[in-house]
Amino acid sequence: MSILITGGTGFIGSHTVVELINIGETPIIVDNLSNSKEIVLDRIQTVTGIRPKFYKTDLCDAEALDRVFAENPDIESVIHFASLKAVGESVAIPATYYYNNLVSTLNLCEAMKKHGVKIMVFSSSATVYGDPAEIPIKETTPLGITTNPYGETKKMIERILADIHKANPDWSVSILRYFNPVGAHKSGLMGEDPKGIPNNLFPYVTQVATGRRPFLSVFGSDYDTHDGTGVRDYIHVVDLAKAHLCALRRARTVNAVEHFNVGTGHGYSVLDIVKAFESATGRAVPYKLVDRRPGDIATCYADATKAKEILGWQAEYDMVDMCRDADNWQTKNPDGYVE
Ligand code: WQD
Repeated sequence: MSILITGGTGFIGSHTVVELINIGETPIIVDNLSNSKEIVLDRIQTVTGIRPKFYKTDLCDAEALDRVFAENPDIESVIHFASLKAVGESVAIPATYYYNNLVSTLNLCEAMKKHGVKIMVFSSSATVYGDPAEIPIKETTPLGITTNPYGETKKMIERILADIHKANPDWSVSILRYFNPVGAHKSGLMGEDPKGIPNNLFPYVTQVATGRRPFLSVFGSDYDTHDGTGVRDYIHVVDLAKAHLCALRRARTVNAVEHFNVGTGHGYSVLDIVKAFESATGRAVPYKLVDRRPGDIATCYADATKAKEILGWQAEYDMVDMCRDADNWQTKNPDGYVE
């Protein structure tokens, strides 16, 4: 039996494919390469010795997606990563985000229904909590008012999946709410490859540390946090990948919709990250304190108890690992994946 991985050449998807292969599973990747490159398949093959079957397909093309299922009747489950995911971009082009993220998911669910596939692990985000009502954030923490269309699509898809399960109680859906994925595969052959100027903190820090950018702009130093800068729950991408394996194992044993916060349970401020990165790598990260970024919240980190108790998963990599692995990837791939 095989597992369909949508968005499987992306940052988190590709690392999850590696971990699936490592435990003897058979992933099949579907990706439209809108935010990733086919060379990732070469790196997966180098790291694991196996090149997964790949379909360059847009999930918004229902006929093409149906053909993937028809050609692979042994698809038993789906891990759904594919999504547009840049917060700032989603504010600029909201219709594109709603169309792409919702239609692709609806097409996927229709194809699953038609071909009798009833297990899904869905890539959601802590963004669904908005400005969280409590810290640390539990799965029972009320969902908030999202500050951008990207986050709203994640909230909508969680609702869509819950309603589909109500109508099809023999389905099983595991919804993973990610916090801040960072780091890279220890080989330095795979990692985060943002297009253009990185939106996220870690890739920006690694580009400053390797001299590609002059300094880091710290967005806001007047938040109600221990040092005034934003606090987040950073999680190593390999820990996150392994959480999907645990979620899949769980989803194969229950017919339910379950939500899990996938974080470390620890919050680090921006300046904490700068210090940790300099200490772990020996590289300087010059920075300037500037105004807040619109839409940012002060503090966001997980209560990861449920994932530990129900999935038997907890993060194993620490901040030193995250910094060293991110730096190793950036150093070995200064321009990211180059075809
Ligand atoms: C982290 C902290 C910034 C860049 C977003 C999405 C979330 C997920 C992860 C998709 C904040 C500060 C950042 C910089 C800075 N994406 N920062 N200078 O905003 O917590 O989460 O990315 O799933 O859904 O919301 O991550 O890395 O952008 O910011 O000071 O150049 O770093 O203000 O405090 P964020 P981030």
